Amino acid sequence: DFPRPYGQPFRRPAVLRPYERTVDEAGPLVKYSVTAQQAAAAVLTRLSTPVWTYNGVLPSPTIRVADGERVSLRVRNALPATHPQFGHPFAMATHLHGNASLPQYDGYASDLSLPGQVKEYRYSCVQGARTMWYHDHAAHTTAQNVYSGLVGQFHVRDAWDEAQLPQGEFDVPLLLSDAMFAADGSLAYDDDDHSGLYGDVVLVNGVPWPVMRVKRRVYRFRVVAGSISRSWRLSLSTREAMTIVATDAGMLRVPQPVGSFRQGSGERYEILVDFRRYAPGTAVDLLNASNKNNVNYDHTNKVMRFLVTDEAFDGANNAVPTALDVHPHADAVMALTPQMARRTTRMRLKHDDITNAWSINDHTWADVVSSGYQRVIADPDVDDVEIWEVENSSGGWFHPVHIHLVDFAVLWRNSTRDRRPFAWERGPKDTVYVGEGETVRLLMRFSVPEGSPGGRYMIHCHNLPHEDHDMMAQFRVGKVPF
Ligand code: C2O
Ligand code: CU
Repeated sequence: DFPRPYGQPFRRPAVLRPYERTVDEAGPLVKYSVTAQQAAAAVLTRLSTPVWTYNGVLPSPTIRVADGERVSLRVRNALPATHPQFGHPFAMATHLHGNASLPQYDGYASDLSLPGQVKEYRYSCVQGARTMWYHDHAAHTTAQNVYSGLVGQFHVRDAWDEAQLPQGEFDVPLLLSDAMFAADGSLAYDDDDHSGLYGDVVLVNGVPWPVMRVKRRVYRFRVVAGSISRSWRLSLSTREAMTIVATDAGMLRVPQPVGSFRQGSGERYEILVDFRRYAPGTAVDLLNASNKNNVNYDHTNKVMRFLVTDEAFDGANNAVPTALDVHPHADAVMALTPQMARRTTRMRLKHDDITNAWSINDHTWADVVSSGYQRVIADPDVDDVEIWEVENSSGGWFHPVHIHLVDFAVLWRNSTRDRRPFAWERGPKDTVYVGEGETVRLLMRFSVPEGSPGGRYMIHCHNLPHEDHDMMAQFRVGKVPF
């Protein structure tokens, strides 16, 4: 029952409707509700696959809000009482990756909801257009929970993106993942040494190597690397350039044309692809060349196919811009200078070959827990600017490092000729690929949500088995009591 590449039609994730829109003292409030539950997904041709997702659909629904909106998200845990892989209660925590959230709504790994429980998360989305995603973040089981489907896209739109980038049917979420299937159609999870989980089937929005019919115009793709471990190097089979118009945390003032780009788990890139130049009937494939230290199979070099049609289309925002106006927050992130930094925080990523534990500055998440959550890796005051230098000393591994709360600029990279960041990472980011032997310097301001004194936030590797075992630390903003 192994799926055939380019054998199934492309599927867009459902868009979640709010169940209520209200206005209170603090302004408009949009309310959503999702239920984490088991479902049977049709991924393979004959066998069905048990999955655990938000709302029982694969992929979980996309949430779309406008900049400036306050959002309530009620998450009901209707998962099985016992986790099928671990035998303990199927606990979950939901993190909105990419949003500056209050600590109590940030999906802290220890802030678990048990089966039968409901947690209401409150978010203010005030930092401009961006492609975020929400996913499970439960301590030690994030990899399995995300793998099983507890992940969806979450978009913020603003006036700048609406005026300049493709919208509606031409604004397309691509949630990339890879999976391995057991003979009975269920998801197989095979990762004994916590190095990573690599599947032989590439999924886009839960569909193996889909085919998408496209019109002869410019499309915007929101690429979310939702893979457990795999990193991607995407390119087009026609060798034409794609144009990066947004990174994790917002739009680029200067869009970057690239022939290919590297994307680790947790990173988001918005790309424009121009199908105007292709005759109807042309197949344009989105391909994946391997980065170092991924496990590859026969068809992991392919992602999906676009089939160009001659259907009529709406011509709005149908250009590949060379300059963009952006939300003031994106400008503020990119306008930071190293001279503004109060200090440099250093971080070394390591692997223990005996215990197979992954660590940050020689400590693991277990050390954070055993300190009573008092051990922190950085302790800035609110609005301090810091340089973070992240060094990969773990031997032959790459680590996509995600810092919660903040958006940063990549300042420096030891692995490029001119030490500048790669072309595709010259915008606001929250996750950075730290490849084999690489060191990166990041620049960020520790702002907190309005009215908040600060709090503790996580930082971790987004290769999820690394995160779970135990490459996660925390930092504190604002000297709030532990
Ligand atoms: Cu996408 Cu801390 O996670
Ligand atoms: Cu890692």
